[in-house]
Amino acid sequence: MTVRVPLPARGDAAYRVVIGAGALAGLPTLLRDDCPAAAYAVIADDTVAPLYGTPLIQRLAAAGMPARLYPFPAGEARKTRATWARLTDALLADGCGRDSAIVAVGGGVSGDLGGFIAATLHRGIPVVQVPTSTVAMLDAAVGGKTGVDTVAGKNLVGAFHPPRLVVADLDTLRTLPTPAFVAGLAEAVKHGAIADAAYFAYLARHATDILARDPAP
Ligand SMILES: NC(=O)c1ccc[n+]([C@@H]2O[C@H](COP(=O)([O-])OP(=O)(O)OC[C@H]3O[C@@H](n4cnc5c(N)ncnc54)[C@H](O)[C@@H]3O)[C@@H](O)[C@H]2O)c1
Repeated sequence: MTVRVPLPARGDAAYRVVIGAGALAGLPTLLRDDCPAAAYAVIADDTVAPLYGTPLIQRLAAAGMPARLYPFPAGEARKTRATWARLTDALLADGCGRDSAIVAVGGGVSGDLGGFIAATLHRGIPVVQVPTSTVAMLDAAVGGKTGVDTVAGKNLVGAFHPPRLVVADLDTLRTLPTPAFVAGLAEAVKHGAIADAAYFAYLARHATDILARDPAP
């Protein structure tokens, strides 16, 4: 399934949200079409990096697309300016230029951090969001809010930087720990309760299949 998200501030521009089991297999083609770049920097935490970051680098290499993995320690406590500084220093040391793009792979922390790196590096380079948690798929990866936490509070330093593309592979949810899987579903219930009665009813009708992580209830 593909959803087009319009960007009204930019005329008739829009980005695609591609959703499906196995969608990551098509990522090289999707990147070529929607976010061509000289090189791709994959930002992922150290839990998600071996699960989905390394396979993604291999898939891009096989397609002849230069890519490098930039892992950081998992957890909200690392969504900081210190992590941003370390990763941006590493990207610049590797010669990541204005013709590069960021691919943020993981939960909302990777998405917010990767997006903020993209918003600020060289005053802004493209970002592609590859959400792997329910929170990230249902909320964080879409809309363009990026940023990091400070001692004064969450998300207090950041920027609006919409993605060029979002690819949500439902198969990645199979490895998400159950507490995180269930916590993110609260977002879906909230969306239904606020804005879409039919969607809310669908969630109620298929609750058992959704909780069993059936990608096509
Ligand atoms: N930008 C936005 O609009 C927006 C919206 C909502 C939330 N957020 C942000 O999102 C963050 C929370 O997101 P989150 O709950 O995804 O946290 P998270 O990114 O820390 O992910 C939760 C944990 O699950 C692991 N994980 C993620 N995907 C996995 C997978 N497929 N398999 C195995 N492990 C996996 C991560 O390594 C991490 O340990 C917060 O920082 C919040 O501020 C941003």
